[in-house]
Amino acid sequence: MLAIIGGSGLTQLSNLDITRREVVRTPYGEPSGALIFGRIAGEDVVFLARHGYGHTIPPHLVNYRANMWALARAAGAANVVSVASVGGIRADLGPGVVVIPDQIIDYTSGRHGTYHEGGDSPVVHIDFTEPYDGALRARLLAAAAQAGEAVVDGAVYATTQGPRLETAAEVTRLERDGAHVVGMTGMPEACLARELGLPYAAICVVANWSAGRGDSAHEISFDKIEAVLQQSLGKARRIVEHLCQA
Ligand code: HPA
Repeated sequence: MLAIIGGSGLTQLSNLDITRREVVRTPYGEPSGALIFGRIAGEDVVFLARHGYGHTIPPHLVNYRANMWALARAAGAANVVSVASVGGIRADLGPGVVVIPDQIIDYTSGRHGTYHEGGDSPVVHIDFTEPYDGALRARLLAAAAQAGEAVVDGAVYATTQGPRLETAAEVTRLERDGAHVVGMTGMPEACLARELGLPYAAICVVANWSAGRGDSAHEISFDKIEAVLQQSLGKARRIVEHLCQA
């Protein structure tokens, strides 16, 4: 079964034939909401809205451990695709572009980033050289090609703490660090998936030029973000549909 985590603007999948909802409790607390089970193109899918179904949970308060545990252990998902909105930093990654990132830099702080908290259990290190699953990324790229949706293959995703957006100088630093897009939820989601042995990849929709770039030179317009997301999340939805058909 495929799990899909919907980010800002994607609290439901219009192409999901819902069969049941399940409230799951985990050793790490409550996930962002009930798991929604259903089918897309005949394929079993479980969906979870990262920020809750009323979009009330900010990025720094998402219970990433509960979410990933619920999808992996309670739902038994075999793969997780995250849909997330980001700000564009690189010149070719403007609003409306869809990116399948291949690397992450983590700037978050104070989030629970591991299932292995020590105590009586042995220390666990995971390999995280390639944070996204290569095979799942390849399937997403193939699904995008089949859907006729242009996507950018590979980008470095900077995860900031939020919930505020960045300053222009912070974006300049992210760019110097080698980041191409910036969002607030990529971590610790990706490393928790790895700890659970769950293949994980992301479809990132560029919602806006990041602070100090393009038409966000002096300010980021939230009205424009809404308009772009409505359009571009349709692309993400079509990619997921083709992923299920493949
Ligand atoms: N910065 C951080 N996260 C984001 C942005 C941004 O500009 N746009 C959408 N998510």
